[in-house]
Amino acid sequence: MSGQTLIFGHRGFPAKYAENSIEGFRYAIANQIDGLEFDVHLTKDNVPVVIHDETIDRTTNDKGIIHDFTLSELKEFRLANNETIPTLEEVLELVGNSSVQLNIELKTDKTNYVGIEEIVLTMVKSYNLAKPVIYSSFNLETLKKCNTIDNSQLYCWLTMHTVPDADLFVKKLGLSGLHLHHYQKIDTLQRIWTVNDTFKLKKLFNLNVAGIITDNFEKAVKVRENIAKKEDY
Ligand code: G3P
Ligand code: CA
Repeated sequence: MSGQTLIFGHRGFPAKYAENSIEGFRYAIANQIDGLEFDVHLTKDNVPVVIHDETIDRTTNDKGIIHDFTLSELKEFRLANNETIPTLEEVLELVGNSSVQLNIELKTDKTNYVGIEEIVLTMVKSYNLAKPVIYSSFNLETLKKCNTIDNSQLYCWLTMHTVPDADLFVKKLGLSGLHLHHYQKIDTLQRIWTVNDTFKLKKLFNLNVAGIITDNFEKAVKVRENIAKKEDY
């Protein structure tokens, strides 16, 4: 793999700001993060919203299932920083034409959001983003549907497990790479999640993986800079 390992903020910058919040995304963009990873679900009225869980219980001031609320109902609830749950459109507006690369995770592993692939791909295409979006999902069927809709986009399968014959697997499915929990010695492009530990960060930067996804991008940037400085001597 050539080029330096890119650093993606896992749900924005949760080490300092509410996860998947506009505040966290804004800070990361203003501070030149390479990429942002975030999670997308559909409301009852099929609006893509940016939140990790299938419910609002953990990250807002109320309880309930996302898909049971319309967007206007969902907008009544507050994140820990008093913001509302962002829509995908709000995040895309914020990113604008900045150089930040997006990794949109389609959260279809527990809920079957009918039509999410078409809705999200169509919405993203209507924005003039500087970098190609990376779409990821734990649900392979979702990525297959995406590929049927538009095979020119970047799709990466998310998995906790070792992927046997990874290079062949990726080629057969028309994926652009894998988002792995554990590094694999493969030719295929890989990004590793969620890497917060200094030792692991150093190891993955030295292995020159395509990307790491981290809760603390500022720490990861420092680790990457220190490796680069040593190489200069
Ligand atoms: O994209 C990597 C990572 O976000 C997947 O796990 O549960 O944090 O969405 P999770
Ligand atoms: Ca995620």
